[in-house]
Amino acid sequence: MKQSTTTWILTAVIIVLAVALAGVLVFVKNQPAQVRGIPALTVIQAMEPDSSKWGVNFPNQYSTFKLTEGNNTRSTYGGSNQFSHLEEDPRLTILFAGMAFSKDYNEDRGHMNALADVRATKRINEKTPGTCYSCKSSDNPALWTSMGMVEFDKTLFSDLSQHISNPIGCANCHEAETMRLVVTNPALDEALKAQGKDWTTFTRQEMRTVVCANCHVEYYFAGEGKYLTFPWSKGTNVDQIDAYYDETGFKDWEYPEALTPMIKMQHPEYEMFTAGSTHYNAGVACADCHMPYTRDGSAKFSTHDVKSPLINPDAACGACHTDVKYVTDRVGIIQKQVADTMSATEDALVAAIEAIKAASADSNADQTLLNEARTLHRKAQLRWDFVAAENSMGFHNPEEALRILAAATDMARQAQIIAMTATAK
Ligand code: HEC
Ligand code: HEC
Ligand code: HEC
Ligand code: HEC
Repeated sequence: MKQSTTTWILTAVIIVLAVALAGVLVFVKNQPAQVRGIPALTVIQAMEPDSSKWGVNFPNQYSTFKLTEGNNTRSTYGGSNQFSHLEEDPRLTILFAGMAFSKDYNEDRGHMNALADVRATKRINEKTPGTCYSCKSSDNPALWTSMGMVEFDKTLFSDLSQHISNPIGCANCHEAETMRLVVTNPALDEALKAQGKDWTTFTRQEMRTVVCANCHVEYYFAGEGKYLTFPWSKGTNVDQIDAYYDETGFKDWEYPEALTPMIKMQHPEYEMFTAGSTHYNAGVACADCHMPYTRDGSAKFSTHDVKSPLINPDAACGACHTDVKYVTDRVGIIQKQVADTMSATEDALVAAIEAIKAASADSNADQTLLNEARTLHRKAQLRWDFVAAENSMGFHNPEEALRILAAATDMARQAQIIAMTATAK
């Protein structure tokens, strides 16, 4: 009898202690990072645009982040050297005739250069909307909060410039108080909601990919206000994006003399990677390859020197692959195959354009067939550009890249034949 009373008391004490401990843990977990033992040297204001202020608390992340400014190494198809794609492949001036990309199309560089590079590009003119700043500056989250995205987007680029002085920075990806990864771009928040998704419920590993989708996505400027919109409401693969643009009837420009209403793809790395790639299906995130863990003495942190993983493959691939040489050789083989296939697609597109131009100049041409040819031209180039504008030369999703290019070549050849038939009649 006595013994069982003691057991009861002991059990009760253990339960009380366990509940108290759980309570403390929940409390601590909900505290800001600073309180949790990450040294709080300085208090960082919400959406602080100046990355150097965050750098006081997180010197390793800040010092590696700054390296993105000076990177200048070129890889076979990418890297940080700002070479001109137009000089490398003159067919691009034909494919982009009548729009800004035929004037200036340089290879991308590191995050710290984003603001300088957008201000330097010849694609910007006096009519460019503020929307073009959306992916370039850590000033944006605060501006989107104070002025709202509607106002931000309809302000002219030249007028918005006075409010923007910082390149991409910590505030584009982190919430200052907790340091958790967040969706900062309202267009991404809206595009996810349109698909019934709530990013605040995503796992940490999912956020290590989704945070890049703040910018590395296909988008367009909707309506007079040039409102930044991701065409995702039907889904994010290329066919669903095509269907979206079909339904809205949107065009970025009209192809001169062929009169095709065209769509320019931006940089759909997120859409390509998440369309069932081997790595995505295996749970690998963008940050695994582009921000691998690094050591500085006893500190282990994510390098913020985001760049081509082919420049640091031991860190970028070595965490998961034992034979780093084998997998990087595979990248070369995959990229060459995609580049060769893409080249054949470009030839087919150029041939289609010539045929449609000729048919458009012929007043006796069958207009129904000619419009059919134009529709195929639009769809073929949208697909080709999805692969071309995606910056990994197919590596992010080799099967999908080759599937899309095969469809594009087929559509372009059909467009050519139909346009020729239109004039023959
Ligand atoms: C399995 C590793 C891996 C994952 C995961 C991955 N990438 Fe890549 N990424 C690469 C490789 C390899 C290249 C090709 C680099 C080259 O050609 O120099 C590349 C290229 C790029 C480039 C162009 C780099 C340059 O040098 O110009 C960008 C931008 C990019 N990736 C963004 C992303 C985004 C965003 C995600 C997630 C949606 C992602 N990557 C996921 C390995 C990866
Ligand atoms: C492009 C998005 C991006 C930017 C910009 C960015 N970070 Fe990060 N940061 C990440 C990602 C992704 C992780 C990995 C998070 C995880 O694993 O949960 C990370 C992790 C961190 C961590 C957690 C520890 C670690 O190293 O994994 C700290 C602290 C941090 N970043 C600080 C900064 C600071 C300071 C800046 C500005 C100088 C900055 N970050 C800019 C994406 C970004
Ligand atoms: C706020 C917008 C933004 C976010 C968020 C962002 N990027 Fe970028 N990223 C850019 C822009 C813009 C460029 C091109 C800058 C230039 O060319 O000046 C770029 C360039 C790159 C490059 C090419 C670097 C080089 O040296 O060639 C890679 C790789 C890359 N980003 C990967 C990522 C990954 C991975 C993430 C998520 C962890 C991410 N980015 C998040 C806007 C962003
Ligand atoms: C976070 C872990 C992780 C990282 C980092 C990683 N991989 Fe992988 N990789 C995987 C997994 C998992 C698979 C699938 C393995 C399987 O199914 O056999 C894979 C498969 C591959 C394959 C075979 C793909 C296929 O379709 O058969 C290649 C090639 C490859 N990785 C290259 C790379 C390269 C290059 C890098 C660095 C830029 C890299 N990986 C970084 C986890 C990773």
